[in-house]
Amino acid sequence: MSDISYESWLVMGILSGKRILVTGVLTNSSIAFHVARVAQEEGATLVLTGFGRLSLVERIAKRLPEPPPVLELDVTDAAHLESLASRISEHVDGLDGVLHAIGFAPQTALGGNFLSTSWEDVATAMHASAYSLKSLATAVLPLMADGGSVVGLDFDASVAWPGYDWMGVAKAGLESCARYLARDLGERRIRVNLVSAGPLRTMAAKSIPGFEKFEGVWSQRAPLGWSITDPEPAARACVALLSDWFPATTGEIVHVDGGLHAVGA
Ligand SMILES: NC(=O)c1ccc[n+]([C@@H]2O[C@H](COP(=O)([O-])OP(=O)(O)OC[C@H]3O[C@@H](n4cnc5c(N)ncnc54)[C@H](O)[C@@H]3O)[C@@H](O)[C@H]2O)c1
Repeated sequence: MSDISYESWLVMGILSGKRILVTGVLTNSSIAFHVARVAQEEGATLVLTGFGRLSLVERIAKRLPEPPPVLELDVTDAAHLESLASRISEHVDGLDGVLHAIGFAPQTALGGNFLSTSWEDVATAMHASAYSLKSLATAVLPLMADGGSVVGLDFDASVAWPGYDWMGVAKAGLESCARYLARDLGERRIRVNLVSAGPLRTMAAKSIPGFEKFEGVWSQRAPLGWSITDPEPAARACVALLSDWFPATTGEIVHVDGGLHAVGA
């Protein structure tokens, strides 16, 4: 635990002095973009990773308060993962936190094809969306010698949703993966937690056929209400989990969904 006083935190920000890796920025609606923004406002030094369209990610990164370096990372590419720690260390001398904001499933795995999706397409979804939490965490372990926080983004996998299909199964895998990682990384003082967010209009959401059905459920049932265009609540929760303010919490899923998970029909 840090010995910085509460008053100092208020002045400096809860991520002051923290070095954070943020994956998953694609557009300025990406949840990761808003985590990056709030993290910088709270004093963090960032390194971003981008997948595929790197020039787009670099352009979006320039909209942050302090444009951070952007490294290429396909989280399913063994060579990218192997070189990741040394590429990060060209910019920061270690990491205190990592945001996993990565999800992908082929179109055949979404939108009502559940019974006919091939194993190859399911495997792609699992690799990019669930196993990748382990791949990313172990790739940066050499940089986390002083412990730290790994945070991933979840969509409630305790029930079956319309159209979410194999992405839902991948999220169930992600939830379990986070618990096993929490078990195995605890002795290194690394916490692993997920933020289970309600639906937000991002590129990933647009690729899910029938996504608008979720939107109606949330607006009608969430006790606190829910805005599909406001990523701030999910971003703040990620930043809180990346900070020192959850020092004894790991293997946890924090729901940031307006309370929908807590109520029946
Ligand atoms: N939008 C929602 O409604 C919602 C709700 C709950 C959880 N989530 C989760 O939040 C996370 C971020 O998604 P988002 O909604 O901000 O959408 P997004 O499209 O902005 O982000 C998804 C990111 O995953 C990256 N990605 C895909 N395959 C990759 C790979 N092989 N290697 C590295 N990166 C890869 C994309 O480049 C993109 O940056 C995902 O895990 C998503 O499932 C989203």
